[in-house]
Amino acid sequence: MDKKVTVVGAGNVGATTAQRLAEKKLCDVVLIDIIEGVPQGKALDLAEAAPIEKHDADIIGSNNYEASENSDVVIITAGIARKPGMSRDDLLSTNAKIMKSVTEQIVRFSPDAVLIIVSNPLDAMCHVAYKASSFPRNRVIGMAGVLDSARFRAFISMELNVSVENTHAFVLGGHGDTMVPLPRYSTVAGIPVTELLSKKRIDALIERTRKGGAEIVGLLKTGSAYYAPASAAVEMAEAVLKDKKKILPCAAYLEGEYGINDLFIGVPVKLGSSGIEKIIQITLTDDESAALQKSADAVKELVGLLR
Ligand code: NAI
Ligand code: 2OP
Repeated sequence: MDKKVTVVGAGNVGATTAQRLAEKKLCDVVLIDIIEGVPQGKALDLAEAAPIEKHDADIIGSNNYEASENSDVVIITAGIARKPGMSRDDLLSTNAKIMKSVTEQIVRFSPDAVLIIVSNPLDAMCHVAYKASSFPRNRVIGMAGVLDSARFRAFISMELNVSVENTHAFVLGGHGDTMVPLPRYSTVAGIPVTELLSKKRIDALIERTRKGGAEIVGLLKTGSAYYAPASAAVEMAEAVLKDKKKILPCAAYLEGEYGINDLFIGVPVKLGSSGIEKIIQITLTDDESAALQKSADAVKELVGLLR
């Protein structure tokens, strides 16, 4: 295939991401992990599914970065995941060390790649990858808003008993308890949910969205969500690989947009072949703006702990 994506971390999110990339016929896939045998085994297993799934993607597993050379997109999922009782922020120092070393190795072999960061705590890990890569800000993008918005959309469709395809939602801010779901910009067939649901029901769906990751951790007990996170990362990768100019909520490095400086936070962006091609500035009410600022303050505090 003419596009190549490397997925670092062959755990739950990474392996599912590799599977979705190949089965959607988007690209060849390289799966990298620190554990010997795991990326090789999962890549071979996926390759053996190819005749049935009917795709011709090359899928390679490796413990070294030569295999990732000249990737168009690199999706970084390496790190440890949440266990019950752990917040995303508890992962900070361990995952920061992993993110730095992975990014340094990736940029040696794929200096022109677009990086999609998945590891948690997401916004802080984007900061680590941005600094370690020295890439321009358009080529370092965090995955969180697409997932959080998909959760909000799923809950809206369950509540109203309508097709998920009719739903659209925007969840901005950091990927944590302070995330900012925006009901005014969330619609069913173009109708804002504020016209369709009571404030009490919307507030309940927002609360469930904010705790969406913890709800899955509580059920799984041994790790965190991976099907929806993989879908979200692949939607972003597809927008880049196919130069779709798709507007999605992603963590982007802001330099004054929304009054926020030098920080990754979730905002609507246009994704195309060069990564983030535009940061879309939507009008926010005073309350929405204050919520975004509060979320930015929480991310800033975490980034401060990195130093
Ligand atoms: P997992 O534990 O199943 O997989 C992580 C993989 O990373 C493991 O296979 C591990 O061996 C590998 N790894 C660790 N250190 C490495 C290194 N230095 N180089 C290469 N590989 C290394 O975890 P899972 O469920 O796949 O989650 C991965 C990360 O993604 C976690 O930090 C999790 O919190 C985060 N996550 C973020 C989401 C988001 O919305 N941004 C959603 C879901 C997960
Ligand atoms: C999630 O939201 C753990 O960040 C991960 O599922």
